[in-house]
Amino acid sequence: MRITVLGAGVIGLTVAEELTRRGHTVTVVDRRPASGASYAAAGMLSPAAEVWHGEEEVLLLGLASLALWPALAGRLGVELRTEPTLLVGYDAGDLQQVERQVALVGRLGGRATLLERAALRACEPALARVAGAAALTGEMSVDPRAVCAALLDRVRVVPEDRRDADLTVVATGARLPAPWAGLVRGVRGEILRVRSDDPPAHTVRGWVGGEPVYLVPRAGGEVVIGATSEEHAGAPVVTAGGVHRLLTAARTLWPGLDRAELVEATARDRPATSDGRPLVGPSGVDGVVLAAGHHRHGVLLAPLTAVLVADHLDGAPVDPAVDPRRLITQPHERERHVDHAQR
Ligand code: GLY
Repeated sequence: MRITVLGAGVIGLTVAEELTRRGHTVTVVDRRPASGASYAAAGMLSPAAEVWHGEEEVLLLGLASLALWPALAGRLGVELRTEPTLLVGYDAGDLQQVERQVALVGRLGGRATLLERAALRACEPALARVAGAAALTGEMSVDPRAVCAALLDRVRVVPEDRRDADLTVVATGARLPAPWAGLVRGVRGEILRVRSDDPPAHTVRGWVGGEPVYLVPRAGGEVVIGATSEEHAGAPVVTAGGVHRLLTAARTLWPGLDRAELVEATARDRPATSDGRPLVGPSGVDGVVLAAGHHRHGVLLAPLTAVLVADHLDGAPVDPAVDPRRLITQPHERERHVDHAQR
């Protein structure tokens, strides 16, 4: 098939690469490739560290996608960091949060182990004295900018849709076109990049006085500190309050950050759906497939999304967990709601 993918973020590009591998002729349309949420993403491939209560399906999707990452990274020639994620609680209340997370992950079949103080100190000697921590084995991280750059070398991207395709995949993140625009909302995430002479070796996902924060190490001493999470109207901007909260929490866990060079502050909208699960599959309009609404998990879920889209085009049944039709109100139902509201 001739396929157009709208959106050159990590989802659109990974879908395009998979469809190209399966023999389709693919064009990606984006005026500013790789400049949306993927540009801000920290690249945690951390299904267990990022799962929230009520989003258990996302952990299962995340574990399935994590298993696909080594092959994708190998094809793209990008580095995967494979040190376990550390979940860290700064005070006694934060430790309860770690313990709740460990229990949730354990119930869902993930690998989470509470660490003794000596073991934690051996893994990360520069971490502040914290109430407790756990290790999430099997988790990884990747640099999303390196991933997008490698994908952009492999797929064809044009600025305008020529509308000559047999099928369109909509992967435009937090800004979906009509009639799907209402299926996602932007949730602003602010991140900082610093360069440190003593960065962590592991991704550190912590809570400090109830404030969530993560530190994701990269090559060359770079550390990504993230991320705020705010529902808001208007364009995503970096706020003084967001930077203050991130730096305060991150410095509390990692005092050596005081010496780090502050390199960048970026804000982007995450594309969130009402039930926290992505939209991957039929859009309700013939010839249009959605690959959107990945909220906090776009980088993690990219390879699974690519496989699901390609399998769907090959005739496989759609996974009900991500089937967009679960959230698409049929026109007759919309009319009934309007009718009811007017009475
Ligand atoms: N997955 C990281 C974030 O959304 O902040």
